[in-house]
Amino acid sequence: MCVRLVVLLLWFNFVASKVVILSGATGVLGTRLSQALLQIPSIVRVYAGYRDFSKVKQLPQHTLLTPFPFDMDDIAIGLNTIESIIQKCSSNEIILINNAAICQMGADQNILRETLHVNTLCPIKISKIVANQIKNFNQRHKDNIRLSIINISSGDGELVYFSTAFREELCRIKSVIELEDFIMTLHNREYEDLVYSSGGTPCYSLSKALLNRFTVLFSNELDHVNNRIVSLCPGSFMSSMTASNELMDLTDLNTVIADILPVVLDWKYKTGLFYRFREIVPY
Ligand SMILES: NC(=O)c1ccc[n+]([C@@H]2O[C@H](COP(=O)([O-])OP(=O)(O)OC[C@H]3O[C@@H](n4cnc5c(N)ncnc54)[C@H](OP(=O)(O)O)[C@@H]3O)[C@@H](O)[C@H]2O)c1
Repeated sequence: MCVRLVVLLLWFNFVASKVVILSGATGVLGTRLSQALLQIPSIVRVYAGYRDFSKVKQLPQHTLLTPFPFDMDDIAIGLNTIESIIQKCSSNEIILINNAAICQMGADQNILRETLHVNTLCPIKISKIVANQIKNFNQRHKDNIRLSIINISSGDGELVYFSTAFREELCRIKSVIELEDFIMTLHNREYEDLVYSSGGTPCYSLSKALLNRFTVLFSNELDHVNNRIVSLCPGSFMSSMTASNELMDLTDLNTVIADILPVVLDWKYKTGLFYRFREIVPY
């Protein structure tokens, strides 16, 4: 009986072992998500990206967790580490979770540029590079590592909060390259011209709406046998991002994690879509 169980566990790990690469691991969601992922039998390693080494001690102390520097202000070092992770990967799925983000009150050109850089342009760049590296690896080794990209987004990025003009502009964008060009033009436009969204953190909302658009467009450009990319709103919970909003209805982190884990792990949550509470958010 015991031997059968061991064989079953080995077989399960062989057929379904997953490696996770997570940005912003030292944040509130990042830390709690790392903890939860480490409890999943098929997850054989969690690479936890941090920008501030002094916060690494906050991460779960676990033999399967490897912290690595992953600063959006200088992603080259993190990308080198990711390349070596892929090169030595013997699992059959890599889950890339683009979780790192900033959210600043108010709006001006600097906030806009910084927010678009961390929340949108970096996840786009990282996702493209990782997808390409895995594709090359598979071709060279005649292997079949699958890739799940999970873009941690926000309800603030739902299109209903934006002007019709912005929605039309966004829908005219048909490829990831066009989207990147569009974001660069936003970088260079005067902020006053951007009457797109309302609320206290309009740059954050804009960055997440663009991230959601990236999910749709990149999904169209990837093969769906080996790749899945989804946007995921975790709901609202207490962190530096919500601390200033006393009126917000917050969910406890256990519920948040229980809601997002299935979408992170299960390919039945289909590519190109935006999920919240395991439901598709119209986008
Ligand atoms: N809190 C909510 O209610 C809520 C709602 C909807 C969506 N979300 C999304 O959930 C995700 C996690 O947010 P959170 O609430 O857990 O906030 P958080 O605790 O502030 O976590 C954000 C993480 O991003 C990292 N980060 C920020 N700038 C970075 C940079 N330049 N380079 C590398 N890492 C950087 C932070 O690093 P440090 O640890 O060094 O500060 C932190 O680990 C975000 O994508 C957010 O948009 C949150």
